[in-house]
Amino acid sequence: APYETILVERKGRTALITLNRPKALNALNLQVMNEVVEAATALDRDPEVGCIVLTGSQKAFAAGADIKEMRPQSYMDMYLSDWFSAWDRLGELRTPTVAAVSGYALGGGCELAMLCDILLASDTAVFGQPEIKLGVIPGIGGSQRLTRAVGKAKAMELCLTGRTMDAVEAERAGLVSRIVPADELLAEALAVAETVAGMSAPVAMMAKEAVNRSFETTLAEGVRFERRVFHAVFAVADQKEGMTAFIDKRPPEFTHR
Ligand code: HXC
Repeated sequence: APYETILVERKGRTALITLNRPKALNALNLQVMNEVVEAATALDRDPEVGCIVLTGSQKAFAAGADIKEMRPQSYMDMYLSDWFSAWDRLGELRTPTVAAVSGYALGGGCELAMLCDILLASDTAVFGQPEIKLGVIPGIGGSQRLTRAVGKAKAMELCLTGRTMDAVEAERAGLVSRIVPADELLAEALAVAETVAGMSAPVAMMAKEAVNRSFETTLAEGVRFERRVFHAVFAVADQKEGMTAFIDKRPPEFTHR
């Protein structure tokens, strides 16, 4: 598809979506949202894609929702168009996703990164929910996902003061899994994605679903869900292949079935 605000590339079983609105530091207007969601949904449906990487530029992953686009909107405009609800689709993908964040990930940019499964940060990354400084609040899940990621203390401070945090603080707080030097970030994110894409695709989907279930349910129900899915993986041919390959001391050849 001919996208104007993103670039989509494929390499083997990994896909890369690059936000490409440099003049606005990748501010997330409705066109960006629709293009990212459309591209990600198509990649999610493609059985040849085992992992999707989402990245921005060195300077900005995304500097937030587009302030110029939002300013004139009325309550009725926002409500009737269900503004930003399409972003939820990104959190519902079955294919694992990796956010590679360099530079600003503010407001909607931070929320977009948190919609991904694995969050890698460059040492230049800056995270925050500065909406309050504009007289608004997070609208793509930031108040919920940031709180689950870093806890109430930091989430409250970031959402109420608009202060940002650097990569070191974000990693210490548990928002990001790892910090990578800026010039190695994309290569590292693609390597992580290639590793994930090399696993059995249905099993990776099930692992992702099990981890995500922990955000939606009690511990007992979550463990029960995991147990049922754990039993179910014994219906996946790749379970036999993975265990046979281990015993035969050779790498597995998963068929993603
Ligand atoms: C629209 C934006 C933008 C944004 C930057 N730009 N962020 N346009 N929406 N969120 C534009 C600027 O207007 C400018 O365009 C160009 O990008 C470069 O930005 P500068 O500010 O000149 O760059 P710099 O001085 O390096 O500062 C970078 C920055 C700053 C610190 C990231 O741009 C900034 O504070 N941006 C806003 C961050 C923010 O508040 N995000 C939350 C948005 S609200 P021109 O045309 O002037 O050159 C949000 C709400 C979510 O996400 C849901 C709630 C409804």
